[in-house]
Amino acid sequence: MSKWAVIYSSVTGNTKTVAEAMARASGGDLFNVNDNPPNLEQYEIVALGYWLKRGGPDPLMKNFLPTVHNARVVLFETHGTENGNEHAVTAFARAAYLLGAGCDIIGTFDCQGKVNPALIERRKQAGADDPHNSVDSVERWERASIHPDEDDLRRAAEFVEKVEQKLILRQKYTSAAPRFNR
Ligand SMILES: Cc1cc2nc3c(=O)[nH]c(=O)nc-3n(C[C@H](O)[C@H](O)[C@H](O)COP(=O)(O)O)c2cc1C
Repeated sequence: MSKWAVIYSSVTGNTKTVAEAMARASGGDLFNVNDNPPNLEQYEIVALGYWLKRGGPDPLMKNFLPTVHNARVVLFETHGTENGNEHAVTAFARAAYLLGAGCDIIGTFDCQGKVNPALIERRKQAGADDPHNSVDSVERWERASIHPDEDDLRRAAEFVEKVEQKLILRQKYTSAAPRFNR
């Protein structure tokens, strides 16, 4: 197993729960982004987790991403929207764009996370022209309300294994045939 640093940002605990599952599965070191993570050069994989705010990484992780350089990176996110939909995928692109120079992204993982009830209440009170004030949104929030669940945490642990497998394959093919290493 590679040496992992798992760094997360979380307000209501969803992303932290996923980060803990990844740290457990990888045997890696877990850091809250608020706690000044150490020099990352000592790590072979740096997993960076955030919650979605307005379609992108939350503000704390947004500030942290540009400080990460020359690292092999995994991005993970929790969100109110459905897993893997366009909104969630675009957020990965936004996070990747903010990373410092020389980073190599080797995997992404996302899962739903329950939305803060205070925010839901505010949205329900919003005017009829608010795009979140709809039956669809209410149903989505309800679906999100049970996540992350056991299945999400199992998927997070499996994801760690998949990343390790990817690295093994990559080493195999790039050492045998350097033309793949581009
Ligand atoms: C102010 C605010 C904005 C949010 N914006 C989005 C969003 O754009 N897209 C989305 O899918 N979820 C959004 N969410 C939902 C959170 O990303 C989701 O609940 C997340 O799991 C919270 O993570 P945490 O528990 O680690 O803080 C938002 C939540 C808040 C409080």
